Amino acid sequence: MTDHVHYGHIFHLAGSPRITDAVDALVSTPDGALVVGEDGTIKYAGERSALPAEFASAQPHEHPGGYLIPGFVDTHIHFPQTYAGDSYGGGQLLEWLNLCIFPSESKFADPEFAQAAAVEFTKRRVAAGTTAMMVFGSAFPHAQDSLFTETQRAGLRIVSGRGIQTVGGDTAKPLLTSEEEAIRLTRAEIEKWHGADTGDFRTALLHVAIVPRFSLSVTTETLKNLGDLYDEYRDRGVYVHSHLNENNRPGTGEVDTTKEVYQVDSYLDTYDGKFLPGSQVGGKSLLGPRTILAHCVHCQDAELARMAETGTSISHCPVSQLFLGSGTMPWKRTVGSGVNISAGTDFGGGDEWLIPRVLGDAFKQHITEPGDEGVSMHPAEMLFLGTLGGARALDMEERFGNFDAGKEADFLVIEPADALRATLENAVRAEDADLARDQTLFGLLMGIRESSIAEVYVQGRRVTA
Ligand code: GUN
Ligand code: ZN
Repeated sequence: MTDHVHYGHIFHLAGSPRITDAVDALVSTPDGALVVGEDGTIKYAGERSALPAEFASAQPHEHPGGYLIPGFVDTHIHFPQTYAGDSYGGGQLLEWLNLCIFPSESKFADPEFAQAAAVEFTKRRVAAGTTAMMVFGSAFPHAQDSLFTETQRAGLRIVSGRGIQTVGGDTAKPLLTSEEEAIRLTRAEIEKWHGADTGDFRTALLHVAIVPRFSLSVTTETLKNLGDLYDEYRDRGVYVHSHLNENNRPGTGEVDTTKEVYQVDSYLDTYDGKFLPGSQVGGKSLLGPRTILAHCVHCQDAELARMAETGTSISHCPVSQLFLGSGTMPWKRTVGSGVNISAGTDFGGGDEWLIPRVLGDAFKQHITEPGDEGVSMHPAEMLFLGTLGGARALDMEERFGNFDAGKEADFLVIEPADALRATLENAVRAEDADLARDQTLFGLLMGIRESSIAEVYVQGRRVTA
């Protein structure tokens, strides 16, 4: 056993910045060295010329023309939609769910099918360089067993939980359980898989989340029971994951229907233990620093403020929001609220596995917001969304997400494939050094495809699933 040193162009965000400070935290070291100790943690990230003498005998890995960046973090993706990308549903969210998604997810009732999907899912995420994920799971416990088993075999990080549904129409029927069964199965999954690989959630790669699909797939009783369950497991690092304010088609869309069914003025209240208008009680809150809510396209200011206050994170999924016609998460207002924002593919609803494609669509979406709302995202903000912001959303920023010494070494070796290499080598760069740096990072993030992701590491171990 020995230390390893990778040589390449390092990009990461040092320290613990908010997204608004990402630019100041951006580190670019063109002739960089990244030392990974035999314990899988980062010992040094900096100039090659300043490599401390103690690492002189580390095993060298040269990556000429290559880049070293933190592993991507996808904070919202659907395992039972592994084969459901680009499903044509003739409508927006609710029609698409009923027509395409519930039937697709029902196929996971077959254990062999689910096992094959878990293998495929794991392969796809490795190809995409996604080292950590919040995974919206299958309704079927055997499918979740396959997912955790394959993830552990590969040596990747995961937080996942079975998708909980207790009400729904005909096509959702195979995915529904009784109220009691919903709690029993969720508890069983936590007991079986949460922290299972090391026996301690603080060092584990495998974690479990409580995952009510969305408020319309459950009842006040389910949410109340899940609040109690979460209260029991909160201190043991269990997570919560769901969707919020995704589709606002007037009258018949998700947001209006939720408000109608729950008789609330704020969709977020349903996850916050408030089920009746103006009620401060009803159940225990599902919000907190280990809760991630996907989309948040149509939030009220008070909802954003409450998420920020509780440490709840947003998974921003622009690829999916474009595909399902959900609209655009208002960038300035959402960032301005102080809530932590991360990036999600929402594969199924999204049709890309690559976090850089999510970052690219975020850029394109936010620059086209109307009037003064339009912003040209800084590439450091894009990097934040795809790496450090995701680690923070998973409440594991202390462990990974950048190259600060002592963190677990989750990183990617990017060896630009032909077209990207030619672009990066021949692009005109500004005279100004900071702008030239930003242009290079932007070109890299916009241009990465699976073919450029050469090596993937988690805790310093190469992942090759
Ligand atoms: N809301 C409830 N279920 C889903 C889902 O599967 N995908 C998306 N995008 N939104 C949802
Ligand atoms: Zn989703």
